[in-house]
Amino acid sequence: MNSMDKLKSDIIVKSPGRINLIGEHIDYNGGHVLPAAIDRKVTMWFRKKENSLCRVNSEDEGAFTFDIKKPLQISDTHWENYVLGVVDGIVKARPQKLGGFDCVISSELPIGAGISSSAALECGVAKGLNDLFDLGLSNLELIEISRMAEHNFVGTKCGVMDQFAVTMGKRKKLLLLNCETLDYKLIDADFGSYKILLLNTNVSHNLATSEYNTRRKECEQALAVIQKDHPQYDFLADVPEATIETYKEKLSGKVYQRALFVSRENARTLKAAELIQNGDIKGFGSLMYQTHEGLSKNYEVSCPELDFLVDLSKDLPQVVGSRMMGGGFGGCTINLVEEGFVNEFMDLASKAYKQKFDINLTSILVATSNGVETINSES
Ligand code: GLA
Repeated sequence: MNSMDKLKSDIIVKSPGRINLIGEHIDYNGGHVLPAAIDRKVTMWFRKKENSLCRVNSEDEGAFTFDIKKPLQISDTHWENYVLGVVDGIVKARPQKLGGFDCVISSELPIGAGISSSAALECGVAKGLNDLFDLGLSNLELIEISRMAEHNFVGTKCGVMDQFAVTMGKRKKLLLLNCETLDYKLIDADFGSYKILLLNTNVSHNLATSEYNTRRKECEQALAVIQKDHPQYDFLADVPEATIETYKEKLSGKVYQRALFVSRENARTLKAAELIQNGDIKGFGSLMYQTHEGLSKNYEVSCPELDFLVDLSKDLPQVVGSRMMGGGFGGCTINLVEEGFVNEFMDLASKAYKQKFDINLTSILVATSNGVETINSES
């Protein structure tokens, strides 16, 4: 199927990116996160074939083929692994049920921006194949298959937040997700006169994957030491800050800082969820600033470009909250900006950023939206 054949597809899937208001780097520590699916999406057209050959064609990245009846291998072409990993997971979950298919992909999501173009792709493939071949996999199974594709084929040992938000998101809602139990609560995404604006640094430092996996290991180290005295804690995010403080001498400096951040961030997210439900947007925004400080100083996943944008916003009363979003080392900041100030803010941030780094800043005004869905015709 080439792009011209989109109209002849059997199904069309729309799979969104995600934002995360607060609760960063704690999904893999059993903490609480507050993400939402957004109105920027990847669209995928799927069609069944008579034989076992599959062809996947991304309008931006090009096409590749594979045989569904043969074992799937990790590809040298990075993006293909998001697709292959999911197909592999589905073949294993439902042996003999998949036949050949064609898929065309068109994306509105910038890559490396921290808005989870990767989870959008994974969950879109998972949903598309589930519906195309009538596999009957539940949403939780699709989420897990997508997450494991990232672990096993892409190599990032990610948590569950992105795939969960992309699959379960709801228009006008935030998801307060407990990553330990996967229980969640939908909260009104009501920010009053404030808009959610992403500022994309357009840098993506190549430390992102290796440092992400290192952070995960550091957190595991901290937990292993704490569990010797406190076996009741299954996850680092459950350990109270006061308990972590008693380990200052027993953990290495960095590992101690990571643990401190995780405990504080979990508490902050629960507090932030309360504040937003009480309409306290300013209080919510000040917690976003605290999160950034922790991610930058204790967790060390920020970078000069992100810090610059957050610092710049601190002097502007019309911006009530700003922080880096997602895995870090580049990508976007998420900002709560007074509606009437959005254009001016984009303008002044772009100019200052260009002057400082000689890089063009791009901005994305987002709204929350439904998670991945199959539609029958183009809408
Ligand atoms: C990436 C991962 C998520 C999460 C965030 C940081 O987006 O895929 O699982 O850990 O980083 O909060």
